[in-house]
Amino acid sequence: MSTEDQSFMDLFTLVLGILVAMTFAIFLLARFTAGSTQQEWRREGSDYQQQVLDRIRPIGQVALPGDATEDEGPVAEAVAAAPVAEVMSGPQVYNTACLACHGAGVGGAPKTGDVAEWAPRIAQGPDVLADHVLNGYTGDAGYMPPKGGRIDLSDEEILAAMNYLLDESK
Ligand code: HEC
Repeated sequence: MSTEDQSFMDLFTLVLGILVAMTFAIFLLARFTAGSTQQEWRREGSDYQQQVLDRIRPIGQVALPGDATEDEGPVAEAVAAAPVAEVMSGPQVYNTACLACHGAGVGGAPKTGDVAEWAPRIAQGPDVLADHVLNGYTGDAGYMPPKGGRIDLSDEEILAAMNYLLDESK
């Protein structure tokens, strides 16, 4: 080997040695600084694990009434405080769901308050009427849609409206 080659090899070996030493040093440093947290992270229920989970927790979560929420924050309280929908009274449901047809007698619908028209219908008994109102009914006069088209309302709300309508028509 020429002296040039020799000095190149010396330098090369030196650089390699420094790199190896640095790798080793970084490895030791990592072990030294992260060793304890790595163990803590793996320990189920440790404070550190909880802290990390808190930090990487999604910022939002969907909470429906009745769900056990992970977090008892303002959101959980707001959900608990506000029911999805208020239950409507009989007259309220009647006004929004039945009046349109039964108020003026649209499409053959028996008019509210027309005692003569309602008497034979009421004579069928409450069970038959409830069935026709909840499930829909096509008679000689026309088509009565299930729940008057408001299938989003509960049976109780619709039946309260029906009772109101019948009371007004006796
Ligand atoms: C789209 C129009 C329409 C709406 C809305 C509607 N009805 Fe009717 N309803 C009718 C028609 C038409 C009839 C008559 C059907 C027949 O006898 O041919 C009827 C019949 C009825 C009857 C008598 C059924 C029977 O067996 O004789 C009741 C009770 C009744 N409706 C209640 C309600 C109530 C309560 C609501 C609201 C929740 C409602 N209706 C909404 C059209 C409607």
